[in-house]
Amino acid sequence: MKRVALLGATGSIGRQALDVIAGREELELVAASSGSTPIDELAPLTQVGGDPTELLERAEPDVVLNAVVGFAGLPATFWALERGVDVALANKESLVAGGDLAVAAWRKGGGMLLPVDSEHSAAFQLLDGQGAETVGSLVLTASGGPFRGRSRAELAEVTAADALAHPTWSMGPKITVDSATLMNKGLELIEAHFLFDLPYERIEVVVHPTSVVHALVRFRDGAALAHLGYPDMRVPISYALTYPKRAATAIEPLDLAGGLTLEFEAPDLDAFPCLALARAAGEAGGTAPCVLNAANEVAVAAFLADELPFLGIPDVVERTLARTDCVPARDLAELAEIDAEARRIASELTRELVH
Ligand SMILES: NC(=O)c1ccc[n+]([C@@H]2O[C@H](COP(=O)([O-])OP(=O)(O)OC[C@H]3O[C@@H](n4cnc5c(N)ncnc54)[C@H](OP(=O)(O)O)[C@@H]3O)[C@@H](O)[C@H]2O)c1
Repeated sequence: MKRVALLGATGSIGRQALDVIAGREELELVAASSGSTPIDELAPLTQVGGDPTELLERAEPDVVLNAVVGFAGLPATFWALERGVDVALANKESLVAGGDLAVAAWRKGGGMLLPVDSEHSAAFQLLDGQGAETVGSLVLTASGGPFRGRSRAELAEVTAADALAHPTWSMGPKITVDSATLMNKGLELIEAHFLFDLPYERIEVVVHPTSVVHALVRFRDGAALAHLGYPDMRVPISYALTYPKRAATAIEPLDLAGGLTLEFEAPDLDAFPCLALARAAGEAGGTAPCVLNAANEVAVAAFLADELPFLGIPDVVERTLARTDCVPARDLAELAEIDAEARRIASELTRELVH
């Protein structure tokens, strides 16, 4: 039996994780948390809102599936990494905002860090057992979101409702907007850098509209391995929770003869500058990715509330980064202060932009 603590149980990933857990006898849900939705009957131990680390102390899980959205997910990831408790990580913000500290905690704790993000789950599987010296580069695929093919000028008037209509994935609102700006791929680029210890120049991003290929790895001998599957998050969730068993799922096999479209194109960084902003923040290092993430969370929330235009999102992120000193943080408490300060600046810039 594996004792699973599920954080963010009421969200898109959380609900799909419940489905996976219910279908596997060897997975026992011992604790669940949400941000504000009541979840009394969901698990023997539950918590609504607040810092879930006390819940984790009581639950003594074998694996923590962190499906909280945003910086709020960091304390639980750090709690588990420091103690060597396995983490199934959907909360990519943990590695984006806290990368250096999280990797140090992970190395020290010695537990597994299993990505749930589909691209990273794919990359994890492709890289498994391969010598680091044989890897040329990792290629992350992006669907391109609902605005793929539009010019910057054509994005000026798009609304939150337009952005929430994602062509291939059904996800929570924040990540859906991140997919529309391509910030999601930028966050994933930083996440991949920390997960796989790859320099940024060896992580490529390519747009692949049908989201069937989740990632590719190019090797030094000219071969490229790809991971394929229909876009369904229950596959990477199940892989992470049942690792290393790769348990069976009820997901349909790929219908190859039915006609799969595998098209790829370069991302348009002029229309979608968030991807370039994220790459630059990753390369700058220190707390630049934490500031990028905080500003993005503020800007996306304002966009979802119809207070900020779509193109205001990269604007707020870029200006917040320009106004912040991105010196490395010593611990999670210092990181939380930097996150809070970046949010304050981003909120101020958001107000300035709309007035
Ligand atoms: N959805 C996907 O397909 C997908 C794919 C890859 C990666 N991810 C990543 O997985 C994470 C979750 O995404 P999602 O789409 O599932 O988000 P979501 O549908 O918005 O769900 C977020 C979950 O986090 C909880 N939550 C929100 N704020 C919280 C707080 N301050 N403290 C504790 N819990 C809080 C929510 O509880 P309430 O219901 O009470 O608000 C909810 O259970 C994100 O980091 C996202 O980038 C998602």
